[in-house]
Amino acid sequence: MVNSGGSMLLIWVSSILCVICVSLGYNPLDNYLIDCGSSTNKSVGDRLFVADQFYSNLLSIPHITFANASSSPNSSAYDPSLFQTARIFNETSFYTFSVNKSGRHWIRLYFFPFVFRSYNLSTAKFSVSAQNFTLIKEYQPKVNPEVKEFSFNVSSDRLVLNFTPFANSIAFVNALEVFSLPDELFPPGATTIGPQGKYLNLGKQALETVERLNMGNQTVFPHDDTLWRLWDADGKYLKHSNVEKFLANVKAVNFTKGRLTENIAPSSVYGTATVLNSDPDPQTNANVTWLFDVDPGFEYLVRFHFCDILPRPSARFYFNVYIGSSAVVQYFDLLNRTSDVGVPYFMDVITTVSGSRMLNVSIGPSNNVQYPNAILNGLEIMKISNAKDSLYVLDSISSKSSKTKVILIVGLAAGSFIIIVLALVLFLLCRRRSLADLSHRKAEDHFPMNEGDTVYTVGSKFSNGTLIFSTSKFGYRFPFVAIQEATDNFSESLVLGVGGFGKVYKGVLRDETRVAVKRGTSQSQGIAEFQTEIEMLSQFRHRHLVSLIGYCDERNEMIIIYEFMENGTLKNHLCGSNHPSLSWRQRLEICIGAAKGLHYLHTGSTKAIIHRDVKSANILLDENFMAKVADFGLSKTGPEIDQSHVSTAVKGSFGYLDPEYLIRQQLTEKSDVYSFGVVMFEVLCGRPVIDPSLPREKVNLVEWALKCQRRGQLEEIVDPLLQGQIKPDSLKKFREIAEKCLAECGVYRPSMGDILWNLESALQLQGDEGRSSHNGKMTEKFNRANSLETCGSAAQVSIGSMGDLAGVSMSKVFAQMVREEMR
Ligand SMILES: *[C@@H]1O[C@H](CO)[C@@H](O)[C@H](O)[C@H]1NC(C)=O
Ligand SMILES: *[C@@H]1O[C@H](CO)[C@@H](O)[C@H](O)[C@H]1NC(C)=O
Ligand SMILES: *[C@@H]1O[C@H](CO)[C@@H](O)[C@H](O)[C@H]1NC(C)=O
Ligand SMILES: *[C@@H]1O[C@H](CO)[C@@H](O)[C@H](O)[C@H]1NC(C)=O
Ligand SMILES: *[C@@H]1O[C@H](CO)[C@@H](O)[C@H](O)[C@H]1NC(C)=O
Ligand SMILES: *[C@@H]1O[C@H](CO)[C@@H](O)[C@H](O)[C@H]1NC(C)=O
Ligand SMILES: *[C@@H]1O[C@H](CO)[C@@H](O)[C@H](O)[C@H]1NC(C)=O
Ligand SMILES: *[C@@H]1O[C@H](CO)[C@@H](O)[C@H](O)[C@H]1NC(C)=O
Ligand SMILES: *[C@@H]1O[C@H](CO)[C@@H](O)[C@H](O)[C@H]1NC(C)=O
Ligand SMILES: *[C@@H]1O[C@H](CO)[C@@H](O)[C@H](O)[C@H]1NC(C)=O
Ligand SMILES: *[C@@H]1O[C@H](CO)[C@@H](O)[C@H](O)[C@H]1NC(C)=O
Ligand SMILES: *[C@@H]1O[C@H](CO)[C@@H](O)[C@H](O)[C@H]1NC(C)=O
Repeated sequence: MVNSGGSMLLIWVSSILCVICVSLGYNPLDNYLIDCGSSTNKSVGDRLFVADQFYSNLLSIPHITFANASSSPNSSAYDPSLFQTARIFNETSFYTFSVNKSGRHWIRLYFFPFVFRSYNLSTAKFSVSAQNFTLIKEYQPKVNPEVKEFSFNVSSDRLVLNFTPFANSIAFVNALEVFSLPDELFPPGATTIGPQGKYLNLGKQALETVERLNMGNQTVFPHDDTLWRLWDADGKYLKHSNVEKFLANVKAVNFTKGRLTENIAPSSVYGTATVLNSDPDPQTNANVTWLFDVDPGFEYLVRFHFCDILPRPSARFYFNVYIGSSAVVQYFDLLNRTSDVGVPYFMDVITTVSGSRMLNVSIGPSNNVQYPNAILNGLEIMKISNAKDSLYVLDSISSKSSKTKVILIVGLAAGSFIIIVLALVLFLLCRRRSLADLSHRKAEDHFPMNEGDTVYTVGSKFSNGTLIFSTSKFGYRFPFVAIQEATDNFSESLVLGVGGFGKVYKGVLRDETRVAVKRGTSQSQGIAEFQTEIEMLSQFRHRHLVSLIGYCDERNEMIIIYEFMENGTLKNHLCGSNHPSLSWRQRLEICIGAAKGLHYLHTGSTKAIIHRDVKSANILLDENFMAKVADFGLSKTGPEIDQSHVSTAVKGSFGYLDPEYLIRQQLTEKSDVYSFGVVMFEVLCGRPVIDPSLPREKVNLVEWALKCQRRGQLEEIVDPLLQGQIKPDSLKKFREIAEKCLAECGVYRPSMGDILWNLESALQLQGDEGRSSHNGKMTEKFNRANSLETCGSAAQVSIGSMGDLAGVSMSKVFAQMVREEMR
C-alpha cells in the first residue's frame, strides 16, 4: 500500500513537472524579433515582434527607408501582418546583435516585395551575409511572400547580419528573427551515405532550411511549434498518389518515454505520418517517394523523423529508407531503436547532390518481409555551406563576367579617355584569355567577379607586377600619367597638406571629378601602410568613411586617390586660421558622423577593425560638413593583432594615444575609443591637443580638461566661440561620455555604439538651438582666426624638433617618453 501510494505520488509529481515543461515551451536566451519598417509592435501568437525603431541601436545604416505595403499578401503560412512593412537599404547596411549564448542560432528573414512610392521592391537585388557566411547571393524576390531560414554556430559575443544591395539596386527585409537554439537540436555531426559512411562535423557549417515537411499531408503552423517552425504538408512533393496513405494519431505520441523533446519536432509532426498503403494488397511492393528541387553542388543534411503511431494491434515491421537510389538503412526496425511504440526518433544523414537538381527520398518494404509496411512522420532538408562558407554559387560564364566588368569600369571612369582605352585593352585581353580557357577546361572564371563576396583583397596582389584590377567596384589602378595630369604634375600650388606619409594634392580628373591625391614618399616603411590602406578602403564602404577612388603603384609610386573633401580636416576648423568656426550643433553632428564611421569599423565585420590613428586631422568634412573618417594606413584587423601585439611598435599620434596601449602594447577597439574621447575634448575646447605655448599645466589638453572637470570648472575651458550656445544638459551629456572614453582601463570605456547613442541624445538635448545662431558667429570667427594664428605656429615651432607631429609613426618619440616616464 505504502509502495503504491509512493508511486502514485511520483506519477503525480512527474505529470505536474511534465505539464510545467510543456507549458513553458522554449525560451531562447538570445531572442530578437523585429518587425522591420513598422512603427508599432506586433503580437504574433505568443511572440512580440518589436517595431524596429526600438531596435535602431542594432542597426548601423547610412540610410534607411520605411515602407508600407498597400496590401498584405493574400496567403502566407506565416502571419501576413509581418509582410506589411519593410526596411529598404540602398547601401551596405548591417545589424549587430549581441549574443549571450554561444552555439547555433536561427536567422529567419521575411521577404515580400511591394511597391512603395518610388521603390519597387520587386526590382531589388541583394546579398545577405553573416559572420563569414554568404547566406544569400544576388537574391531577387519572388512574387509571393517568402521566409528564409539559416542557422550557424555563433562563438563570439556578437552576430553581424549584412545586407548588400547589388550595384544600383536596393535591398529590403520585412521582418527578421534571430534566436538561440537549444543545443540538442543539432548534434555535432552526421554520417554520410555510401559504403564508407564518413562522419562529418557540422559545428562550423551554416545550414539553410530547404524543406521542412510534415508527413500526413497536414501543415503545422509556427504557433504550434516550440521553435516557431513551419512544417509544410507533404502532399505536393509525393511522386505517386496511390501507394501511400495518410495517418493521424497525435495521442499516440509520448515524449516522456523517449529521450527527445518537442524542440526536435512537435507532437503534431510526430503524430501524423505518410505510410505505405498495403490495405488493397497485403503484398504491396512499392516505394513511397518524395521529390525535391535543390541546388546541385552542395551537401545536404537530411533529417528523417519517425514515430510508430500505427493503430494497434499491428505486426512488427521492417523497411528500407533511401535517398536517391542509395539505401540509408535496410531492414529498419523502428521499434528496436525506440524500444516502445509512440516514441519519437530522428536520424540525420548527409548526402551530396551533384549534377541533377533533384533530391529524392523514399521509403519502401525490405526484401522478403512478411508484413510490408513503411512509415515517415517528418522530413527536413538543410543545405550545408560549402568550402567557401557560402550557401550560393552563381552560374557565371566568364564572357558574361568580363562584360559586366567593362561596364563597371566604364561607369566608374565616365569620360576619362585613357581609362576607357585601358579598359578596352583589358577587355580584349580578358576575352582572349577566357576563350583560351574555355577551350581547355570548362568555363572557369579567370577574373572572378565576386560582386556579392564580402571580402576583397587587393594588397596581396601587389607583388606580381601584372595589371590586376581590384575586384571591388570601389577603386582601381590608375596610370601614373593620369595622376600627373590631374595634379598638374604634382604642382606645389595644389598641395592640401603634408603628413608623415607624404603630400596630399588636390586634383581634377578628366571627367571633372575632384579628388585628393596622396603621394607616398618612397620609404620601405610606408609600403605596408599603403597596402593596408587600400585594402581597408576597398573592403569597407560607408557614408562616414572616406571613399577610395583608385590607386597607382606604377614606377614604385605609392599614390592613393580619394574623394575630395571640400571642407578639409576637423582639426583646421577647430584650431586653424581662415576656416569658419563650427557651431555646437555642427560639432555634435560631426562627432556623430565620425562615431558612426568608427562604429562601422568596429562592428561591421566579424573581426573588428581598429583604426589606430583617430584624431581630428583624420576626420574630414565634406561640403555639408558631414564627417568622414580617413587615413587607414595604421588600421589593424583582429587576427593580426593576436599575432603581433607583442612585437608591434606603438603607433598612433601624439596626444591621442591610449595610455593602456602604450604600456601593454595590446590593441583593442577601446584604444580608438580613447582617441575619440580626446577628439571630443578638442571639439569642446577648440584648441590643439598639445599646445606648448601654454603654461605647463595646460599643455596637454586631456590632462587639463580632466583636471578642470574634476574641479567642476570645465565650463571655463569650453571654446569661447561656443559661449552661450550650448544647452547645459547637452554639455553635461557630452562631457560625461567624453570623460568615460578617457578611462584608464579599456574595459571601463564605452563602445562606439554607446558613444553614438549618447551623442545623439546630446544632440537631442540641444534641440534646435544653434541652428540659427551659427550665422551670428560668423564675424566673430574671423577675429578669432587672427588671435589663434599663434596657436598653430607656436606648436609647430617647439614641437618641430620632436619629429613629424601630423605624421604617422611616433614610435620613437614614445619610446623616449616612456623611458622618461619610467625614471
Ligand atoms: C543578454 O545580454 C545583455 C547584455 O549583454 C543583457 O542585458 C541581457 O539581460 C542578457 N539576457 C539574458 C537572458 O541573459
Ligand atoms: C515595443 O516593444 C519595445 C521592446 O519591448 C518596448 O520598449 C516599447 O515600449 C514597445 N512599444 C509599444 C508602443 O508598445
Ligand atoms: C505606415 O502606416 C502606418 C499606419 O497606417 C503609419 O503610421 C506610418 O506613418 C506609415 N509609414 C509610412 C512610411 O508611410
Ligand atoms: C491577391 O488577390 C487579389 C484578388 O483576389 C489578386 O488580384 C492579387 O493578384 C493577389 N495577390 C497575390 C500576391 O497573389
Ligand atoms: C541612399 O539614399 C539616400 C537618400 O535617398 C541618399 O542620400 C544616398 O546617397 C543614397 N545612397 C546611395 C549609395 O545611393
Ligand atoms: C515592379 O517590378 C516588377 C519586376 O520588374 C514589374 O513586373 C512590375 O510591373 C513593377 N511594378 C510597378 C508598379 O512598377
Ligand atoms: C572567418 O574566417 C577567418 C579566416 O578564414 C577565420 O580565421 C575565422 O575564424 C572565421 N570566423 C568565424 C566566426 O568562423
Ligand atoms: C560551436 O563552435 C564551438 C567552437 O568552434 C564548438 O565547440 C561547439 O561544439 C559548436 N557548437 C555547435 C552546436 O556546433
Ligand atoms: C494534401 O492536402 C491538400 C489540401 O489539404 C489537398 O489539396 C491535396 O490533394 C492533398 N494531397 C494528397 C496527395 O492527397
Ligand atoms: C507516456 O508514457 C509514460 C510512461 O510510460 C506514462 O506514464 C504517461 O502516461 C504517458 N503519457 C501519455 C500522454 O500517454
Ligand atoms: C525502391 O527504391 C530503391 C532505390 O531507388 C530501389 O532500389 C528499389 O528497387 C525500389 N523498390 C521498389 C519496390 O520499387
Ligand atoms: C535491437 O537489435 C539488436 C540486434 O540487431 C538486438 O541485439 C537488440 O536487443 C535489439 N533491441 C531491442 C530493444 O529490440
